[in-house]
Amino acid sequence: MTSPVPAPAPAIVARGLRLTLGSGDGAVDVLKGIDLIVPQGQVLALLGPSGSGKSSLMAVLSGLERASSGGLSVGGADFAALGEDGLARARRGRIGIVLQAFHLLPTMTAQENVQTPLELAGIAGAAARATSELEAVGLGHRLSHYPAQLSGGEQQRVAIARALAPSPAIVFADEPTGNLDAATGASIVDLIFARRAETGATLVIITHDAALAARCERVVTLADGRIAEDNGG
Ligand SMILES: Nc1ncnc2c1ncn2[C@@H]1O[C@H](COP(=O)(O)OP(=O)(O)O)[C@@H](O)[C@H]1O
Ligand SMILES: [Mg+2]
Repeated sequence: MTSPVPAPAPAIVARGLRLTLGSGDGAVDVLKGIDLIVPQGQVLALLGPSGSGKSSLMAVLSGLERASSGGLSVGGADFAALGEDGLARARRGRIGIVLQAFHLLPTMTAQENVQTPLELAGIAGAAARATSELEAVGLGHRLSHYPAQLSGGEQQRVAIARALAPSPAIVFADEPTGNLDAATGASIVDLIFARRAETGATLVIITHDAALAARCERVVTLADGRIAEDNGG
């Protein structure tokens, strides 16, 4: 008899996740009870109108922001039980984040932008790893350039290299092509998918682009802080 292979734990389990920002009369219920299970390795698109809570949900799922209430387990870590320092530690090396505005450090070269977080995470061989990750995104010839000397598409490639260099199990991308022209954006999307296919990471990508969503296994649509549609994958 063969014993059944246990299913791997999901990458993300969110139960009744709520987020209220501000206080008193200014309090806004941004997330109003999100239930979401994302299996390991899934490629999920998060859609929804502006203001529906996509970026807020990503901030909570990636540990950048603490939920006001509800249960959240990410990569097996109980995010609901962690404080800010604990979340920062849990994030490091396990979760990669790519944002619309690239957020590179202007005083650091491309190489340093990728290498420094690896060093901070205590990852061995940070310099070689940063170089090979920049080569993987087609920037082997731009290692010593500063962000201001790079095009928008090149800056986003550096940000992708930085996010992926620690080999995170989960990658979040919030409108990663939002600041790019269509052709550059398309090449960035191809790059994200190609790198994801190589690493097998779970990918959650926020987008307005229906064509991009169609390339994802699963599409979850938010409206007014709730999941309005989920094609389940
Ligand atoms: N710091 C904040 N204080 C109060 N409300 C906020 C704050 N940040 C975001 N919001 C509100 O939360 C809602 C969701 O925002 P967001 O997650 O950025 O939506 P999306 O990414 O889908 O456009 C919006 O109504 C926004 O105004
Ligand atoms: Mg947003």
